[in-house]
Amino acid sequence: PPKPEVLPTLTELLKSSPFKGKDVISVKQFSKEELHLLFTVAAEMRLGVERDGCLDTLKGRVLCLMFFEPSTRTSSSFDAAIKRLGGQTLMINEAHSSTQKGESLADTIRTLDQYGDAIVLRHPDNDSAGRAAKAAHGPIINAGNGSREHPTQGLLDLFTMREELGTVNGLTITFVGDLKYGRTVHSLVELLRHYNVQIQLASPAALSIPSKVRASMQSRGQLAIESDRLTPEMIAKTDVLYVTRLQKERFEDPSLYEEVKDTFVVDGKTLKDAKANMIVMHPLPRNLELSEEVDDDPRAAYFRQMRYGMFVRMALLALVMAP
Ligand code: CP
Repeated sequence: PPKPEVLPTLTELLKSSPFKGKDVISVKQFSKEELHLLFTVAAEMRLGVERDGCLDTLKGRVLCLMFFEPSTRTSSSFDAAIKRLGGQTLMINEAHSSTQKGESLADTIRTLDQYGDAIVLRHPDNDSAGRAAKAAHGPIINAGNGSREHPTQGLLDLFTMREELGTVNGLTITFVGDLKYGRTVHSLVELLRHYNVQIQLASPAALSIPSKVRASMQSRGQLAIESDRLTPEMIAKTDVLYVTRLQKERFEDPSLYEEVKDTFVVDGKTLKDAKANMIVMHPLPRNLELSEEVDDDPRAAYFRQMRYGMFVRMALLALVMAP
């Protein structure tokens, strides 16, 4: 009889990590096999945390957190992730850093590079993560660069779909809201190239998805419909409703924000015709676009999505930083 398959242990998975010591700048870096590895490790992290609370995979390691844009989830989940792996954090914020005295991004990165084993960076400039990676010897993990990308959010979004719905293949995913400036959408759409999915887009015309991102979906035959309204027909087909906030801080024309801010509100009425087993996701924070009346609906996955984020970030840190 064939020998039963012996699954590799967490230690074995980390030992052969293709991410060891590498920068994580863009979701474009990830192959299908690497995503599979990341999610296998994330599932192990979930089990480990639920069983023991903490692991000692990164005992003695220091992670630098450099958030030059506001953050609640990304900063605190990276903080929690390294601590649950036995490591520690060193955090600086822009208002109290020597950036105020004119220090460049590259010099600030070179400084933290001396003290920690890896740097997590969020920065308003689209090219910041790439510039930081050039300046650092140790790994840089992109936690959001301007309106371009938010790779770890895209990764945790995929993990959420897998954990909640069992698979990503075969899903119809509907993106709603600010698809122009919403960097989490750009990262997730790019990751979805690995899967057999249909994508529906609903946004005000002025906030439609960048043409390059649209072209990439079209070339793969994934774009089912693009609309300036979220129609009941679109909702009825949806397995994942991915709601996004209007990124007010990135609008070039403030009057446009006022014009569109009350459009695309997802509430109980919106979900009336939705499937019983679909989920609602949101990278958060939210403003008016996602009504609190949805929170008690079992299909509201956005709070669970935050917790999945910690497991994915634990997995990524372990794969990058473990000896
Ligand atoms: N989703 C996300 O990036 O949230 P924060 O801005 O709070 O980190």
